[in-house]
Amino acid sequence: MSVKRIAVLTSGGDAPGMNAAIRAVARTAINRGLEVYGVYRGYNGLINDDMFEMNLRSVSDIIHRGGTMLYTARSPEFRTEEGMQKAIANLRKRGIDGVVVIGGDGSFRGAQDLTRRGMPTIGIPGTIDNDISCCEHTIGYDTALNTCMEMIDKLRDTAQSHDRCSVVEVMGRRAGYLALNVGIACGATSILVPEIEFDFEKDILERMAATAKTQKKHFIIIVAEGVGGVLEMAKSIEERTGIETRATILGHVQRGGSPTLRDRVLASQMGNEAVKLLLEGKSNRVVTIQNDHILDYDIEEALAMKKPFNLDLYEMAHEISI
Ligand code: F6P
Repeated sequence: MSVKRIAVLTSGGDAPGMNAAIRAVARTAINRGLEVYGVYRGYNGLINDDMFEMNLRSVSDIIHRGGTMLYTARSPEFRTEEGMQKAIANLRKRGIDGVVVIGGDGSFRGAQDLTRRGMPTIGIPGTIDNDISCCEHTIGYDTALNTCMEMIDKLRDTAQSHDRCSVVEVMGRRAGYLALNVGIACGATSILVPEIEFDFEKDILERMAATAKTQKKHFIIIVAEGVGGVLEMAKSIEERTGIETRATILGHVQRGGSPTLRDRVLASQMGNEAVKLLLEGKSNRVVTIQNDHILDYDIEEALAMKKPFNLDLYEMAHEISI
């Protein structure tokens, strides 16, 4: 059965570039003769039948905007069988025969649930965490990296002027990719990530002392959200070293802002590919990028894969940061 009418939604934490992906989905679909519905607020919009038919101009003037024009949500109701059945019934009522879900791993579990109930679904990885195993770069990651870098460069100016230590928390509950790369780009003395256990003495105090011996008087410590405790950490550093220390939690500023060129292009490629996959009769696939090639994986397989932490990069960062 060929696909005639599809829906697109964004789900989970927003990520810069989601709009560019929505645009690519809508334009590819319409230009290939399909009808497209934009669903508001993720899976909640499917349950509440909150959607509208898009045209080519519905997605004008959004490629450069952060956030998502479709809004987003995490939907506890969709995790219930009743919620899923409501969503499927609304899609069927409207004659929708394919769905594109833009989001992270939680959103892909929802995509799987739709597929299992007979609705062809394709996932597009949109998350600043870059924690989708089969995908080298998720939509929003590059923008978040650059936002963090810009913010931490500003913190460095003031830390340097006051001979202070700046302890900075960046996002990433379970993944340290953002912390690691930003730590390298900002010349952090220590980088703490959830993937690797740390020792306060060895990984922070000893590194600061070694650095101080070379007459450097300001320090940046990057901490991934999943490690946490930056306020207490800053207090302990100050008590133990006598160096004035401030803690900063970058927070949701990291998720906003205009997407970088890389995220816009990636999102456009992925949105285009998702529609092509539906047209080819594929379902339960996640679009990915590896070595600059757009590929697709079975969602179940993708969710079961574990993304290896780049230990070489982590060790390199430590070698060159004193
Ligand atoms: O998954 C993206 C992310 O930004 C994580 O890095 C962070 O832990 C989480 O979302 C924050 O979620 P919320 O916006 O619900 O506070």
